[in-house]
Amino acid sequence: MIGRLNHVAIAVPDLDAASAQYRSMLGANVGAPQDEPDHGVTVVFIELPNTKIELLYPLGDASPIQGFLDKNPAGGIHHICYEVDDIIAARDHLAASGARVLGNGEPKIGAHGKPVLFLHPKDFNGCLIELEQV
Ligand code: CO
Repeated sequence: MIGRLNHVAIAVPDLDAASAQYRSMLGANVGAPQDEPDHGVTVVFIELPNTKIELLYPLGDASPIQGFLDKNPAGGIHHICYEVDDIIAARDHLAASGARVLGNGEPKIGAHGKPVLFLHPKDFNGCLIELEQV
């Protein structure tokens, strides 16, 4: 069911420092910061040949990233995103298999303008999983 690894999202305590590190130290193609108020994050996209990295930084008072950074002050991997062809079929299969879909279970439009869902990390070895329909 799942396809390509679309991206790995890393929560960072200092977006400028993390961007500079990926650009200068790791020699990556690093984009400009983009505010995404609907998701409570500022994101920097990093294009790799085979996938993307997203640096996440809290935006606003109710950011879902803030609690993660409170627990992981140095930052850390926040979620990984797999591509699926049909997000509704994927959701229904997962729900029938006992996995918990976060939120109200309806896809939201994600950072790339495509429908996404998140799966409870406790059902997936401690890893928050995002599904994106491509
Ligand atoms: Co994501």
